[in-house]
Amino acid sequence: MFQQVPTAPPDSILGLNEAFRADPNPEKINLSVGVYKDEQGVTPVLKCVKEAERRLLESESTKSYLPIDGRPGYDKAVRELMFGADHEVMTAERGVTVQTPGGTGALRVAGDFLADSLPGRSLWLSQPTWPNHPNIFTAAGLPLKTYAYFDKANNGLDFGGMMEALKGAAKGDVVVLHGCCHNPTGIDPTPQQWKAIGDLVQEKELLPLLDFAYQGFGDGLSEDAVGLREIARPGQEMLICSSFSKNFGLYNERVGALTAVAGTKDEAGAVLSQLKKVIRSNYSNPPTHGAAVVETVLADAELRTMWEEELAHMRNRINGMRKLLVEKIAACGIEQDFSFIQDQRGMFSFSGLNQMQVDQLRSEMSIYIVGSGRINVAGISEANVDRLCEGIKKVLG
Ligand code: LMR
Repeated sequence: MFQQVPTAPPDSILGLNEAFRADPNPEKINLSVGVYKDEQGVTPVLKCVKEAERRLLESESTKSYLPIDGRPGYDKAVRELMFGADHEVMTAERGVTVQTPGGTGALRVAGDFLADSLPGRSLWLSQPTWPNHPNIFTAAGLPLKTYAYFDKANNGLDFGGMMEALKGAAKGDVVVLHGCCHNPTGIDPTPQQWKAIGDLVQEKELLPLLDFAYQGFGDGLSEDAVGLREIARPGQEMLICSSFSKNFGLYNERVGALTAVAGTKDEAGAVLSQLKKVIRSNYSNPPTHGAAVVETVLADAELRTMWEEELAHMRNRINGMRKLLVEKIAACGIEQDFSFIQDQRGMFSFSGLNQMQVDQLRSEMSIYIVGSGRINVAGISEANVDRLCEGIKKVLG
């Protein structure tokens, strides 16, 4: 029977990692998948995580199942980190959170919930977006539409185009917004633009779904939540998919969460019951370790301070690399203006390189970036930046 099964194409991001591993060139550079690396090219385990793990190992007394929605302490800590303890969503108790295997797990639970409980609505994705978004929501059976996002001419946000497209959304449609550090462009709305998005969502009665995977990688923990808090007006419903892969460096522990904000506490309870139903028929209940680490760090004043410092260090290193890359590009004689890289936020930079140039970088220099031209700035270091600039100069011709 299996002879009928065709080979699927490799994943557009994770597939590059496999090709990178197989590349024998000792000077190869991997700027594909969104993983933070330090100056030595290592993806470190954060010190706060190591300490939390030491404490957990000592105190752990059971390996019994978690509840379907995960660790209650974790779920509450996730909401507090996003909204702040005094936010109306918290005091009105109209938010519920389920622990999920990574941000991808959260997006899939959200997709299945929408397909089951609120069928018939379209889901709008930014153009471009993370390539796994269409995979996930198509797998959940949702009809997809796109809204303009990237202004190629100015390397900025096409805010007019975005608003125009979303004005065409039907009441009840779902709009996927990147909470901060837009993947792949690195371009976010300003606080004023978030306000206008909040107005539009409210007026048109749309359901915002925020993908919030990079809190703390842009400008800071609360700065990066500006858009989310703007959207979460009294009575506004929303879904938020969180990931702690990047800001806690917990990539392989798969730590995420889906938060649903309903109009009232009772409605939130009904949504929670449906989310649990979706989870039970998928992976039953989540794994505990990564979420226990996040919960431990967020609940302990000393570990939390340590985490915020380590997160600031990662953020500052990335922003330092943005500056260095722009300087080095100019210094090596490339005339094209790449200064926009410094205005982008988060791990990624949309370089403007096209698929042919990306292929050439890979085949001639063993430099791996995503086909859209997305560069993982967090993979750049003093040690590889000159070679990267040499490659960019070469492919620009
Ligand atoms: C990325 O965009 O590189 C990350 O979100 C990792 C992934 O799963 O694609």
